[in-house]
Amino acid sequence: MPGIVIVGTQWGDEGKGKITDLLAERADAVVRFQGGNNAGHTIVRDGVEFKLHLVPSGILYPGRRCIIGNGVVVDPSVLLGEIHELRARRIDTSGLKVSANAHVIMPYHLLLDTAGEARLGKLQIGTTKRGIGPAYADKASRLGIRIQDLLDERILKKKITAALEPHRLALRPYELDPELDLHTMTEQHLTYGRQLQEYIADTSRLVWESLEQGHVVLFEGAQGAMLDIDHGTYPFVTSSNPLAGAACVGAGIGPRDIDEVWGVCKAYTTRVGSGPFPTELDDELGERIRTRGAEYGTTTGRPRRIGWLDLVALRYAARLNTLSALAITKLDVLSGLDELAVCTHYSGEEDAIFDEFPYHQSVLHHARGEFTPLESWSEDIGECRSEDELPAAARDYLAFIADFVGVPIAMISVGAGRDQTIWTSLGAESLVGTAAPSRGD
Ligand code: IMP
Repeated sequence: MPGIVIVGTQWGDEGKGKITDLLAERADAVVRFQGGNNAGHTIVRDGVEFKLHLVPSGILYPGRRCIIGNGVVVDPSVLLGEIHELRARRIDTSGLKVSANAHVIMPYHLLLDTAGEARLGKLQIGTTKRGIGPAYADKASRLGIRIQDLLDERILKKKITAALEPHRLALRPYELDPELDLHTMTEQHLTYGRQLQEYIADTSRLVWESLEQGHVVLFEGAQGAMLDIDHGTYPFVTSSNPLAGAACVGAGIGPRDIDEVWGVCKAYTTRVGSGPFPTELDDELGERIRTRGAEYGTTTGRPRRIGWLDLVALRYAARLNTLSALAITKLDVLSGLDELAVCTHYSGEEDAIFDEFPYHQSVLHHARGEFTPLESWSEDIGECRSEDELPAAARDYLAFIADFVGVPIAMISVGAGRDQTIWTSLGAESLVGTAAPSRGD
């Protein structure tokens, strides 16, 4: 102990990378537990931008254990590409470990993802086309290839053969099946296995060891609560559980190993891909926020949909995750807007009013945000380093969020730089706040 989970509370892209990066300075290990390279973190360090999709944010600190847990789906070519790039920039990657039990995103998963979206046509989910859904589907069907299989030619060949048969059939109508050659794929993945060998480990045991030794371990969630396959806006979700509870299964620990759960929440809302979005601002104001906040996907470059902060969804995410603290990001993007509002309930058909996030898909699809206007502020807040320095209207905005959701705020981000961060007294007194910057620095 202590274990701290960091999760997204919206539809992903909340700025978890920066928060994890800051907390990682005081941690000994950072663990990814779900998702894959559908996620994308941009970390700015000394003016240099690092875009990571699979490798945990802590890699930029020497001596950190950076773990890709069993719950992650791994595209080996992407992982090797990131390792290569980090090394080229003289970042030490020796602390990186990938679970032998993590599942592999195979070439046919990428084809199946694209074919699946084509088949859905207008109903498509808007996936990142990284093969995430098909890889998790194979895992559940017991047709998956695991990282450890890349080290054993006989097993690998057998497993690819078994998986290829149904997938070839599925891809035939799209004439994509000729791309699947058993021999080429096996050889390619054995090469990946050899290149990854030094990183492959029993990561559940490594995490346990760190916790046993009393080190701070961060569990870094990808995506966000509203994209959760069980509790999100299904079917417009990802294929894993981006909730704090999934940290246990996806890293191989127990619930009692978790001491704090931090929910990262952008000061407004964004979503990429299709699906319900009750607070969407499909207008000039939305466009203005998109431009100011540079709201374009790290992974796909797609423009993100923009909306006011949805407190109904945030309170739901707080409950699903039992959040102990909130980290509010991109507050600076809201500076200088003529109007400001938050969504406090939804309205639906026949004048229905919803205070809670609707569980029924038809209700949710017709839900529209009902807003409470709040006072805006015009000051640039990028230089504020304490809550006191923030304009009164910005402080009121934050207080309204914390009050409504019933979760205190530990951290406020007022710009992309590491120093553009405010630790509240709660954050400073938290387990990570009190932990000294960790070994190796
Ligand atoms: P998939 O995870 O690629 O299958 O995509 C499923 C849905 O989740 C799509 O709407 C994606 O846009 C969304 N999604 C997946 N990963 C992220 C992310 O890291 N940020 C935001 N949206 C994501």
